[in-house]
Amino acid sequence: MCGIIGYIGNKNVLPILIQGLKKLEYRGYDSVGIAILDKNNGIQIEKCRGRIKNLEELIKNTDIEGTIGLGHTRWATHGSPNDINAHPHFSKSGEIAIVHNGIIENYLAIKDILLSYGYQFISDTDTEVLPHLIQHNYQGDLTEAVKKSLKMAKGSYAIGVISSKEPNKIVAAKSGSPLVIGIGEKEMYLASDIPALLNYTKKVIFLGENEIATIDKNDVHIINLEGEEIKKKIIYIDWDAEMAEKGGYKHYMLKEIYQQPLVLRENLEKYINLGKVNLSYLQLAQKEVISLEKIHIIACGTASYAALVGKYIIESIAGIPVEVDYASEFRYKTKLLNKKTLAIVISQSGETADTIAAMHSCQGKVWTTLAIVNVRGSTISREADHVMYINAGPEIGVASTKAFIGQLISLYLLAIFLGKTKNKLSEQDEKEIIIEISRIPQKIETILYQNDKIESIANQFSKYQHFLYLARDVNFPIALEGALKLKEISYIHAEAYPAGEMKHGPIALLDDNFPVVAIALRDKVYDKMINNIKEVTTREAKVIVLATEGDEQIAKIGDKVFYIPEISIPILYPLLSVVPLQLFAYHIANILGRDVDKPRNLAKSVTVE
Ligand code: AGP
Repeated sequence: MCGIIGYIGNKNVLPILIQGLKKLEYRGYDSVGIAILDKNNGIQIEKCRGRIKNLEELIKNTDIEGTIGLGHTRWATHGSPNDINAHPHFSKSGEIAIVHNGIIENYLAIKDILLSYGYQFISDTDTEVLPHLIQHNYQGDLTEAVKKSLKMAKGSYAIGVISSKEPNKIVAAKSGSPLVIGIGEKEMYLASDIPALLNYTKKVIFLGENEIATIDKNDVHIINLEGEEIKKKIIYIDWDAEMAEKGGYKHYMLKEIYQQPLVLRENLEKYINLGKVNLSYLQLAQKEVISLEKIHIIACGTASYAALVGKYIIESIAGIPVEVDYASEFRYKTKLLNKKTLAIVISQSGETADTIAAMHSCQGKVWTTLAIVNVRGSTISREADHVMYINAGPEIGVASTKAFIGQLISLYLLAIFLGKTKNKLSEQDEKEIIIEISRIPQKIETILYQNDKIESIANQFSKYQHFLYLARDVNFPIALEGALKLKEISYIHAEAYPAGEMKHGPIALLDDNFPVVAIALRDKVYDKMINNIKEVTTREAKVIVLATEGDEQIAKIGDKVFYIPEISIPILYPLLSVVPLQLFAYHIANILGRDVDKPRNLAKSVTVE
């Protein structure tokens, strides 16, 4: 899941590429590079292993300058992260340079053909076949050569191509990986996602599947792989650059955790009208909702844990059976789908390859597909039948936080809408739930005020190498999310289990070196959780308990207790219980000096399978 940036205009391209790469670095950060068409129309390439600061060091004493260029920050799939495998890659003649995000699956076959024509390869990447192939197909028109070459390529790609033979254009193309064109005054931009463009323009064109754009500083011309012209709408993005800044926080993740009350208020403002949920804009036909027999929710990572919370709340509030699948498993399993099933896909980025493919495999086999998405204009938001935006704004930290809260509130509102439409939820019940939900932003703020307390608990537990997260019922997915947050940013092993499952195996792990984080809130399974915590302390394991304010009993059995405000409708607790677990993971990672916003081996959106 690499990041691509490009510029063509009158300004010096170098600072624009560097700035853009810094905005894209959360997409992949194991190597980086730029290609600039300089004054003498030659292509200058500078690239290296590691972060953008390594590239800045590398080019510090060069006088590289031009007004057209491409940049790339890499998340390696083929060929280890090193100076050679870093992008851009160039053709045998050196006259064509390319940056690529995705995987050319049939690159070995193409390589054999090119080798038979005497082309030599210097990198281990799949990408390097493209510049050689474009050169091989070049007959005076770069766009034609790119089109002809892409017809041979299988797999996923977003590419930017420049040529010293045609030093007044950038050719870009997309299939499977995201690519956005930014419209400026006598200048154009190219980027893998919106935050990289916000400093320059809010007018964008989202390149569609199998589309090729020829971009010069005044115009964009788009065709498909058959050469047919495609007219595209310019979309205006209502995000501003500041939203993609850290805003004085040490990390984007911390800023985004603190933005969660705002995300909730934004959604309540948008979807609650006179104390009632109003999702009419979704245009989900009432007749079909009433005859709905099943819901299938499909997602990856953190979004899949939101889906699991969705299962508990939709089954409880709307009485509709819900099945949840990891998208990467769903796309290859035998699917029992019918026209009385609603397929819901959840994705922050809207670009996760497995989730896109899972959605496609449902379309035409179910009643309809509904996407719960954050990024406007993303592939999933453009290709789903219905879209519910979570209004979280740009999420830059690789570890998802505010998007998770946005996904949860969307699922609660959807459950209420479905419950009402199916007459499973009374007006009075809806009213009570809405009153309690509207108190949650302030309750999250109460938790955030106690951030220091969580930091001190994190301090006392940062030396442990293993954690077990336990919870029951609707909070079990929150235990999964808490464990994922700790794993992905602190690199500490953490597992989550339904607490009742612990004695069927995981309890064997426990000793005084294997602490437990237990969510034991005042709800229908509270007494059971108390028993489970006692089973844990009996094995000498230390327990950090997440408890409801005023619960003195639990203070007697937990080693550390963190209290969250009480909620009168317990099924809403996930909107609160996740926050201390996000902060706990954040502080442990910060104490261990991890790169919290860009954890090793991860990327913000997983655009390859
Ligand atoms: C979560 O912190 C991770 N970044 C990852 O698990 C993420 O949730 C997953 O890749 C799904 O991404 P999406 O929501 O953009 O589809």
